[in-house]
Amino acid sequence: MSLNPHDFMVTMEKRVAFTPEDKEILKSNLDWGKEIAPEMADHFYAYLGRDPEMSAILDEKEGRMHRLRETFVQWFAEMFTGMDEWGNNYADRRWRIGLVHVQIGIGPQHVVPAMATVINEARKRLDTDGKPLELLDALSRICMIDLAFIEQAYVEVSSAAVLQETGWTEGLFRRLIKTGAGSM
Ligand code: HEM
Repeated sequence: MSLNPHDFMVTMEKRVAFTPEDKEILKSNLDWGKEIAPEMADHFYAYLGRDPEMSAILDEKEGRMHRLRETFVQWFAEMFTGMDEWGNNYADRRWRIGLVHVQIGIGPQHVVPAMATVINEARKRLDTDGKPLELLDALSRICMIDLAFIEQAYVEVSSAAVLQETGWTEGLFRRLIKTGAGSM
């Protein structure tokens, strides 16, 4: 059940239909991406701060908010550079981000609406700045790939932990999940 981030990236690119044209438009708007990144970070952390559960996580450690703001700005810009043309380095980085969130206990219910906030706020700036709809499409697709990494990390880590603790086979585990879902 162990995920290979490089293969996962390739699969997600196809599944999300993230095209060479998407990559081109993102790269050609890198300056704009960098320019709006701090504002996106403000919206993002204001959004997390309004939720009592997420706000508590942010306040848990000294300096966390400050660190997060910086990592968010960097993360946002990386969607426009693709790091290594959205290759293995990009995939490793996204997988790592997923693992960090699993460690902290941030689940799908937190991450999905948070990513929606990013896309929504970017759309507003896009409108204001008269940017083309194709840029929004490309940004939405890469956000979906990044989201899939974070969500998949949650599933992979949980499953691996159960298998390790119990010694169950993957087949048995999958059957138990199916039966459990059927009885709910
Ligand atoms: C759109 C979804 C999200 C993105 C793109 C994102 C991005 C990031 C990035 C890039 C990091 C740094 C990872 C590293 O150290 O390698 C990080 C860490 C972290 N994120 Fe998120 N995040 C998201 C959702 C959330 C949510 C919903 C929360 C809830 C509170 C959250 C809280 C945190 C915390 C607490 C850390 C660790 C900070 C530290 O102590 O260093 N994130 N995030």
